[in-house]
Amino acid sequence: MNRLFTEADSADIVVERLASCEDPRFREVMEAAIRHLHAFVKEVEPTVEEWSRAIEFLTATGQMCDDRRQEWVLASDVLGVSMLMETLNNRAQDGCTEATVLGPFHVEGAPQLEPGGNICRDGKGMPCHVSGRVTDSDGEPLAGASLDVWQTNADGYYDVQQPDLQPAMNLRGRFVTDPEGRYAFRTVKPVSYPVPTDGPVGDILNRMGRHAWRPAHIHFIVTKPGYRRLVTHIFAHDDPYIDSDAVFGVKDSLLVEFREQDDAARARELGMESPFCAAEFDIRLARLP
Ligand code: BEZ
Ligand code: FE
Repeated sequence: MNRLFTEADSADIVVERLASCEDPRFREVMEAAIRHLHAFVKEVEPTVEEWSRAIEFLTATGQMCDDRRQEWVLASDVLGVSMLMETLNNRAQDGCTEATVLGPFHVEGAPQLEPGGNICRDGKGMPCHVSGRVTDSDGEPLAGASLDVWQTNADGYYDVQQPDLQPAMNLRGRFVTDPEGRYAFRTVKPVSYPVPTDGPVGDILNRMGRHAWRPAHIHFIVTKPGYRRLVTHIFAHDDPYIDSDAVFGVKDSLLVEFREQDDAARARELGMESPFCAAEFDIRLARLP
């Protein structure tokens, strides 16, 4: 016979009902979820009103989700859980480039461009040249590695957030490294921007007294068969939000300088207008076992 519910043994009594669960991993996960949830409620002792507000938040978060908006991912991002997942899943890649959050704005099928190609299609912002080398963890060049890069426009919005205002695939492109592992592309200097705040996650950020800003960055996914897929960003090292990223994505090793320069001859060589800025970032991929 099952035990009847008591406050003292509440978690144990619910966990005992997992006795017929046949999937050991699912059982382990559910047991931990039940124990943590009961401990949380016992610690906080929410009032009935507070509990119904919590349920309203969960409901509104789900209702905000569709093909274009994933409010649950945003919730996980601002609570630091996405970065924790990223960190646990990318431990001990000695000498390799660190990973950070993917974010909700990656789009499959960005245009494949020639080396040095320009991903900016709206002509706004300070021209920017980004280049570097992709190597293995010993520094050996990796030819034929693919880079998928994306960022907001100079107004701080991704193309998919402004489908009527920005050209499709604005600030997105794919590139392949040359025989020395080199890559280069033209873009605009990235700017800081807030994560979407018009939903329930924006409300809780506000109530926690937190801002919604991310420091200026460019996203990268770097792949090469036989190597671990790298999802990362480069961040402008002097951005005012560098130590308060709303989604905790910043790592020291990912800070770069976007150097502003007024060298007309160099700009012409790179096919850019002057003044422009330039950033260099070398990427080391971990070999798969
Ligand atoms: C982004 O950098 O695109 C991003 C990451 C997490 C939440 C929102 C946006
Ligand atoms: Fe971003």
